[in-house]
Amino acid sequence: MIRDYIFGGNWKLQYPTVETSVKAAKDIADQLSTIDVEAFIAPSPNALYEVGRMIKESNLKLAGQNMHFMQKGAFTGEVSIDGLLEAGCEYVLLGHSERRRIFGEIDEMINKKVHTALDNDMKVVLCIGETASERANGDMAKVNMEQLSGSLKDVSEVQLNNIVIAYEPVWAINNEYLNPGVKIKAATIEEANESHAVVREWFVKNYGQSVSEKIRIQYGGSMKPTNAKELLSQRDIDGGLIGGASLKAETFIPILNSIK
Ligand code: 13P
Repeated sequence: MIRDYIFGGNWKLQYPTVETSVKAAKDIADQLSTIDVEAFIAPSPNALYEVGRMIKESNLKLAGQNMHFMQKGAFTGEVSIDGLLEAGCEYVLLGHSERRRIFGEIDEMINKKVHTALDNDMKVVLCIGETASERANGDMAKVNMEQLSGSLKDVSEVQLNNIVIAYEPVWAINNEYLNPGVKIKAATIEEANESHAVVREWFVKNYGQSVSEKIRIQYGGSMKPTNAKELLSQRDIDGGLIGGASLKAETFIPILNSIK
């Protein structure tokens, strides 16, 4: 393996209180202490600071789920990068499909956030992914390449050291709003490999072969203890961004252990 695995737990708004978030974080941090792998959790903003305090001395890292591109100002309801840094975040998720498709974030906006994050020593997990209909129309590669080009505009080769890509096919994300009336399931190995190859190839074209070999690409979308091992054994899958199964140590830790 030329790249180190990286795992993230995206808690979305599934733990709406501080107390439940801190408890889950503690369980995961305790069990992670015996595993040698890079892992972060992204709690909801209301619990971020307290979770950060709880896991401070552990090897579990903290991530924000989103942030605004301006550091401060009259932006009702937004989260600042300084707030994320103060809570102890090393990473921020940007461009998650729920941000893009439910809250209307466009690549131009995501690109500004990417630059604000990188300019302020925050590492970025850039999320990309196509919907079911985009894939059915044969646009999987086009959509993902457009999101990469738009979100990473003017990002230098050096800055890429602080970027992880999360490929998350929207149709595989366990989200009933994004996938109304559809039976949601993870991508097959073939589907995941096809998409990860598209992402890797985009980096080859835009930054060259050696840079592309270093970029870590997580898979996200219904990753669970039962399918993680097979997905993670693929050459171009360098970890996972996990929603539902990251909420509890009982399901998150076995996923991390499946790389052994
Ligand atoms: P699920 O693992 O719940 O499908 O969520 C994936 C995801 O959106 C992680 O960012």
